[in-house]
Amino acid sequence: MTSASCGGAGYWQQRADVVVIGTGVAGLVAALAAVREGRKVVVLSKIAETATFYAQGGIAVVLPDALRADGDSVSAHVADTLAAGGGLCDADAVRSIVADGYAAVADLVDAGARFDEAAPGHWSLTREGGHSRRRIIHAGGDATGAEVQRALDHAATHLDIRRNHVALQICHDGDQVTGVLVHSSDGPGVVHAPSVILATGGLGHLYAATTNPDGSTGDGVALALQAGLRVTDIEFIQFHPTMLYSGGAGGRRPLITEALRGEGARLVDRRGGSVTAGVHPLGDLAPRDVVAAAIDARLRETGDPCVYLDATGIEDVRGRFPTVTAACLAAGIDPAVHPIPVVPGAHYSCGGVHTDVHGRTDLPGLFAAGEVARTGMHGANRLASNSLLEGLVVGGRAGRAASAHAGQSGPTTAVAPAAVRLPVLARPALQHAMSRHASVVRDADGLVRLAGMLADAPRRLVTDRGGAEDAALTLTARAIAAAALARTESRGCHHRADHPETDAAQAFSISVRTDTTADPVVTAPQVAG
Ligand code: SIN
Repeated sequence: MTSASCGGAGYWQQRADVVVIGTGVAGLVAALAAVREGRKVVVLSKIAETATFYAQGGIAVVLPDALRADGDSVSAHVADTLAAGGGLCDADAVRSIVADGYAAVADLVDAGARFDEAAPGHWSLTREGGHSRRRIIHAGGDATGAEVQRALDHAATHLDIRRNHVALQICHDGDQVTGVLVHSSDGPGVVHAPSVILATGGLGHLYAATTNPDGSTGDGVALALQAGLRVTDIEFIQFHPTMLYSGGAGGRRPLITEALRGEGARLVDRRGGSVTAGVHPLGDLAPRDVVAAAIDARLRETGDPCVYLDATGIEDVRGRFPTVTAACLAAGIDPAVHPIPVVPGAHYSCGGVHTDVHGRTDLPGLFAAGEVARTGMHGANRLASNSLLEGLVVGGRAGRAASAHAGQSGPTTAVAPAAVRLPVLARPALQHAMSRHASVVRDADGLVRLAGMLADAPRRLVTDRGGAEDAALTLTARAIAAAALARTESRGCHHRADHPETDAAQAFSISVRTDTTADPVVTAPQVAG
């Protein structure tokens, strides 16, 4: 790893023990954990909106024996997670994270989060695709993420959160992290720190339409790639089966939670025919990749622009699902009366920066947690509502690990200015190409065309949020195109029209790196270690 030094004359300078980039569930839990360990923590926030806020369904968690009635167990949750993950989960990582789930949720309750109850003292549990049991706790009906974010924001009021601060580069000396190069309204600056935690969320804005908030532009993946690190399982982009369809509008689109199907809603086509009949034994509650592919296939077959989620049979659907109801009513649809038009939408990156279950990357001092990280929890397809769980558990662990690392390392200094010239493809062109060639179904022709466009992207000096986001999208798209081309089979969220079968010989993760110079090129994929 060559070094990436930051800062120098003309840069503002700050010092911290731990820098956390991102203010969703993983970022705030990590920051709070590091502060509890007595560290000086600086949190960088690019944008107030987080993906956590928009999470609807809930948190998948196995309750202690005394609180559950249906024979759920850590082993059952692990088995469901592995089954959804298409053979690529790291079973040890899954067990470790699932086993710590209840303790992490209990900490969140201590921080003030409140979940819906079926009876006093008993949380109401729902089901989502791929879960063999009702084990998903929720809040405000379908506003779980908003409650998690509210509780964490409240707990974090005493933290040093720098708003409108964009991380441009991770500084390191080749052996370990020395800080972060930042853009803010005060111009460029550097926060010197021995520990940095990436908690930047996802990358949905690689696509023309997504359930993700505006800032989900692959920033953490790109920062890690620039630092010479591997990203793993990055070809597995999860498309949520039911994003509200409104005449093909792009940008962030409302999610129609899978919990509706858990409560009995049915996926039908324009003629009322079931979309998933005969596709999977769990029908509409099959894992997400299966349902999204079934919808995609039906749309290709019929030429229709959307299918429908019929939730009219759910008792008090408006009361149980107020967030979905509000989004539907805003689009002129009453879910109690009319089937909801839906299409699959880019929702979640199952892969990301390669870490262990404590968020440690290959670069000492650099950690990652939440959607940006690949711990091995999700494999080729994330099980519904496992993401808030992972963010809570690994966020806390990463905060403690980063704190311990800072304690061992002492203060660092990141020196000498760095000019960052990165490939930047215009966002509309990139989103169009990704939506066309790297969406629910891919093939070699499309992926080669995509990779060619990305390789030809002109380089720009990246000095502000817009440039950083566009460069992050371009770098991340390059990694996805390379991994998706290399995986010549269909598995989990990765469907190749030219390789429709799963190939047992490819039951391994693929990692991608780029050059560590200012001229990033996706290198040959490697089998993950
Ligand atoms: C949903 O509510 O359907 C989304 C939950 C998730 O992505 O885990």
